[in-house]
Amino acid sequence: GSGVPPVGVCPAGDLDRVRADAGEQRLTTNQGVPIADNQNSLKVGLRGPTALEDFILREKITHFDHERIPERVVHARGSAAHGYFESYQDLSDITRAAPFAAAGKRTPVFVRFSTVAGERGSADTVRDVRGFAVKFYTDEGNWDLVGNNIPVFFIQDAMKFPDLIHSVKPEPHNAIPQAASAHDTFWDFVTLMPESTHMLMWHLSDRAIPRSYRTMQGFGVHTFRLVNAQGESVFCKFHWQPVGGTHSLVWDEAAKIIGADPDFHRRDLWEAIEAGAYPEWELGLQIFTEQQAESFPFDVLDATKLVPEELVPVQVVGKMTLNRNPDNFFAETEQVAFCTAHIVPGIDFSNDPLLQGRIHSYLDTQISRLGGANFHEIPINAPLAPVHNNQRDGMHRQAVHRGRVAYEPNSLGGGCPFQAGMAGFTTARSQMPQPPEDKVRGKPELFADHYSQARLFWISQTPAEQAHIVNAYRFELSRVTVPAIRVRLLSMLANVDPILAEGVAQGLGMDLPPPMPLATDAPPPQYEPSPPLSLLAR
Ligand code: HEM
Repeated sequence: GSGVPPVGVCPAGDLDRVRADAGEQRLTTNQGVPIADNQNSLKVGLRGPTALEDFILREKITHFDHERIPERVVHARGSAAHGYFESYQDLSDITRAAPFAAAGKRTPVFVRFSTVAGERGSADTVRDVRGFAVKFYTDEGNWDLVGNNIPVFFIQDAMKFPDLIHSVKPEPHNAIPQAASAHDTFWDFVTLMPESTHMLMWHLSDRAIPRSYRTMQGFGVHTFRLVNAQGESVFCKFHWQPVGGTHSLVWDEAAKIIGADPDFHRRDLWEAIEAGAYPEWELGLQIFTEQQAESFPFDVLDATKLVPEELVPVQVVGKMTLNRNPDNFFAETEQVAFCTAHIVPGIDFSNDPLLQGRIHSYLDTQISRLGGANFHEIPINAPLAPVHNNQRDGMHRQAVHRGRVAYEPNSLGGGCPFQAGMAGFTTARSQMPQPPEDKVRGKPELFADHYSQARLFWISQTPAEQAHIVNAYRFELSRVTVPAIRVRLLSMLANVDPILAEGVAQGLGMDLPPPMPLATDAPPPQYEPSPPLSLLAR
């Protein structure tokens, strides 16, 4: 339905059944047996050995021994909050996604912000990309928009993700350094992967040291599809704009805060919500057709490229408000499982080869991180929409299914769930004729332009911001011990802008090498604006 729940309604209500509050209650074992003495183990004489039969001691210690679960393989350090998304308008002309069904409609959300590289206990204000993951508990199931605070990414193909992360994590022999980027292996890898040039510009800019989670933008990064009830689809980029503005630290502040208050961002988010200063973001959409995308001087399936707002303006369609801190960090923030495969009717994927790999990765990793195939039953992950299917059993199954049959079709069960035929859900119609194609490992031609958008970013920066970028490159590269890596970086930057490259080279006391050979002979693309596709008048 499209009912409008009152302000602040979130999965809170649903979690009530599992909330535990032990105040003024009798202490018990996990079997509900009263514990008479929580101070002393059961011993054979006051100075004798402890009896193996002390099941109370053993249960307590055994549970403690198993309190830790693996941290996320990336984005291990994070903080989260509850809230809601409110749509400004009815977007059903463009998408049948439930959150956009009516003006004023509210959908509960749970949002987790994170750093990428550091371990669970690492500091908040390091130079790093920030995760910005939103779980919408929609009427038609959970939709996860698993984004970052930077609109592009380091690599173009999921095949390279393990390599990227192995280069950025501490070196395997000595687990040094813990800093996100200041080391040989990271700079070795990215300077051998010129497609990372654009992302590196953002990564070395003030964007990678945000003032607060409340003052970061968020981006879906990939091109997605929006699909309406007729199965018609358009391409879409998602943008979260902080209502309080986008603000960053400067490097000296960030470095001092790492030592003085490693929980700086976690504390800021928590305290703002406790004080009633609820963080807000507006959701903006860049909407364009397949025909428009064909005319762009870059490939919209390439996650190292953004769609410049001069080409397609961002149209604001709603607002997200975070208004409640979690009750329990482990139960909610640690056990939440975001997944790019979690889409709902009205949202669909594009063929971006990075996104396609992510669709597999999240569920796969969570089976090991959260102990089996039933983590969708953990309260923070459970949809508010009802779940009915014939999946059964597995470790820690909570649901108690009744009846004889767990298969379909059947003529014995009576209460079997039926399949809901639905136009346009995971079957979006293309507007373009699709020629039959062979299976191939390779990249489309426009993926080879690695520098035009890096340069667009550089020239969009104010002189002060440009100086921060030059200084950041100098700082990071001064910690790289292998001269050839520095040379490769300078030759990459020489393709972005001569002033940038010269500035970094001077800081390192090096001569500027010749530019890195281009991966394409094509002339640099021209960015001509095309007319916007209005959300309301299609
Ligand atoms: C977390 C894989 C690219 C955003 C994760 C996790 C994995 C992963 C395994 C840990 C999930 C968990 O344990 O719950 C990948 C792969 C990628 C990729 C294979 C490329 C092929 C990206 C990109 C973005 C992104 C491009 C941003 C658009 C995130 C976020 C989280 C995350 C925000 C943390 C979610 C949370 O707060 O729990 N990723 N990732 N990832 N990833 Fe990716």
